[in-house]
Amino acid sequence: MTIFKILTITIILCLSPIVNAGMPKAAIASAHPLATYAGFEILEQGGNAFDAAVAVSAALAVVEPSGSGLGGGGFWLLHRASDGFETMLDGREKAPLLANRDMYLDAKGNILKGLSRNGVLAAGIPGLPATIVHLSEKYGQLPLSQVLQPAIRYAKQGFVIGAKHRKLLKYRLAVLQKNTAAANIFLVDNNIPKQGAVLKQTDLASALEKIAQLGRAGFYAGSVAEKMLKSVQQAGGIWTQKDLSQYQVIERKPIKGEYKGVKITSAALPSSGGIVLLEALNILEGYPLNQLDEISRKHIIAEAMRRAYHDRALYLGDSDFIDVPVKRLLDKNYAAGLRSGMHLDKATLSAYLSGNTPEKKGGRNTTHFSIIDKDGNKVAATLSVNFPFGSGFMAKGTGVLLNDEMDDFVSKVGEMNGYGLVGGIANGIEPGKRMLSSMTPTFIEDANRIAVLGTPGGSRIISMVLLAVLDFAAGRGPESWVGLPRFHHQYIPDRIQYEKGGMTHDEIAGLTKLGHKLNEAGYRYGNMQAVQFNKNTQQLTAVADPRGEGSALVKGY
Ligand code: GLY
Repeated sequence: MTIFKILTITIILCLSPIVNAGMPKAAIASAHPLATYAGFEILEQGGNAFDAAVAVSAALAVVEPSGSGLGGGGFWLLHRASDGFETMLDGREKAPLLANRDMYLDAKGNILKGLSRNGVLAAGIPGLPATIVHLSEKYGQLPLSQVLQPAIRYAKQGFVIGAKHRKLLKYRLAVLQKNTAAANIFLVDNNIPKQGAVLKQTDLASALEKIAQLGRAGFYAGSVAEKMLKSVQQAGGIWTQKDLSQYQVIERKPIKGEYKGVKITSAALPSSGGIVLLEALNILEGYPLNQLDEISRKHIIAEAMRRAYHDRALYLGDSDFIDVPVKRLLDKNYAAGLRSGMHLDKATLSAYLSGNTPEKKGGRNTTHFSIIDKDGNKVAATLSVNFPFGSGFMAKGTGVLLNDEMDDFVSKVGEMNGYGLVGGIANGIEPGKRMLSSMTPTFIEDANRIAVLGTPGGSRIISMVLLAVLDFAAGRGPESWVGLPRFHHQYIPDRIQYEKGGMTHDEIAGLTKLGHKLNEAGYRYGNMQAVQFNKNTQQLTAVADPRGEGSALVKGY
């Protein structure tokens, strides 16, 4: 059995001598230490979890530009302790109004390679700036101008780039080299900066200052908007002022369900996360997973993933544009029907469910953070620019790196996107439509514990959260869920992908014998950030994924 490295986690228990035992505490886990510190800085100034979430979101836009940013979007799942109110802020990007179904196809109907992933045409209309303004104004306690200060400071003063930043620059180097504005900021002599280099982003600091002064008008109107539109249109992009003016944050009812006594609250459409997660859990509820041998257990989980991702491909898209049978997909009887086609002794071919397709690598993009404050307010937020460093296109003079989220639409029915996902017309491109996402910010709760979690990772986000929920349900703590060896099935390609070193020889042989194809990812994936509150011991725990460079802290304030 492969032994995974002992986790390096930051857990400061309530009774830790380094914090005053009487002080109320909060927990924050994020993908970058400076983002976690920004959250605590704002809590210490009297902010609540929602203010801290604005500070962390803005800080991540500066210090982890590979994962998220002002030019991107995301989903913020909120729980307000005072009245138990829960909502999901949908800050997903939208297709520009001049977009059309065939915009990434040539005259013969073939995909124009790379157009939905690299460069200006790949960018949807950003939602992150509007959402942090909305979050601050509607749910925060401190002025937006105060809450954005840590991010502005990081952008102006700069920070030392880490190994992960450099690795992801390498992955997107060719694309970044093609855009002078991006190359001027992220590269040195058009190449990857040396270890220890300091990244300063003065234009981005100015854009953040404009948002701090003017709210959403600081981004969607005025000088930042003018510069973005000029830069986009000069490069052949299709954004207009109307796109920016019309962008709206939408508050949506989160997806809720229950698995063996564990309550789950997760992302609603246009993210597929909550629906696919709950559908898989509903299927799995019919099995005594903890009593199965490890091969059968993994087989059954993979079969549930296969079916839930199959329905993702078939039915899911922006519910403001299409009818999605959400109620049916989440019906326990529907899950029972799916179970009846599953067998303990053999895998189902995905082609039997329908479709067929070649292999494709998964993603390494996006970011997640989790917060619980001293009052019990909670935020789970997964934010993205899609591929690392998004489209690689920076709007000149703004410091804003644009997303390539348009690739999450189906450019052509039956063709895979960058994560190997397929889909149908439900997720086809339409002007003003939101592209289907896999982001899965999630709350879980049982009689004893409350947890907040999520992760980046493209199409594998949902399967990572699923494995974490199953581990929570088996009674284990956040250090276990976050460090688990991961595996994934997304219906197409028809194979179980597992992390480097994440399966034993016996498991590989056993699953192959059942009819599964398996493939080892050449790396470990995901960057889960989790916090937990134990209702019995009143103990807070925060854990950052050992695969990343994040920071998880529990502190009094
Ligand atoms: N861009 C990744 C996702 O939203 O699923």
